[in-house]
Amino acid sequence: MGIIFFKKLDSTNTYSKENHSSLKHKDVIIAETQTKGRGRYQRTWVSNKGGLYFSIVLKPKVFSRKNIPNLTQSISVAICKAIEKYSIKPQIKWPNDILVNNKKACGILSETVFENNKLKAIILGVGINIEQKNLNKIEKPAISLKTLGLNIDKEKFLAQILKEFFRLYPKTLSKGFEAIQKDYNKYFAYIGKEIKLQHIDKIYEAKVKGVDKHGAIILEDELGNINHLHIGDIL
Ligand code: BTN
Repeated sequence: MGIIFFKKLDSTNTYSKENHSSLKHKDVIIAETQTKGRGRYQRTWVSNKGGLYFSIVLKPKVFSRKNIPNLTQSISVAICKAIEKYSIKPQIKWPNDILVNNKKACGILSETVFENNKLKAIILGVGINIEQKNLNKIEKPAISLKTLGLNIDKEKFLAQILKEFFRLYPKTLSKGFEAIQKDYNKYFAYIGKEIKLQHIDKIYEAKVKGVDKHGAIILEDELGNINHLHIGDIL
């Protein structure tokens, strides 16, 4: 494992993808600012100075493909545990956004690199709002941890996240969501609440019943129909 630091990059995920063959398993790429930070669904991730932007490169040898998405949920649990050390209560907005006071404090973009149908690398990209200014210019409500009076040492914070994530990593890879289910449920937001969820080109309006043993969200519509969804975006 190596930590590779840049003052400026287009995106730590893009860099990791482009350089995956020379990067090692568990390498972590950090950038102080990103000029083309990317979010889920081709959104832009504004990456001004003051945030923590990094990507973890994973190159597992033995794994079950179905458990790969759960690594994203695993890193969100690791981040929640690191935030909790500052006596703040984080929540996970399914599948892996982290909220503090109902505002987004962290987002995760996981990507995979395949060559000839062979997995070459998994890239877990994390953006955490630590002390940026002007977060109110972002479309969705966002919050930086500094607003809560926290003075976070980014290096220590990252070390804490990595320690926790690499503890969960082998378990998640072999057992999938079951390895983190208990922790994940502790942080899970919106339980029992009515939500709107965009799933591909359909919008579900339903009540959140929980998360199943695979990490899929369980929704119940007003007719009592139950749906387990593996992908989507809570609006
Ligand atoms: C989202 O909530 O939409 C995911 C945001 C992920 C942002 C991080 S910042 C580090 C890494 N590099 C990127 O370009 N994106 C991720």
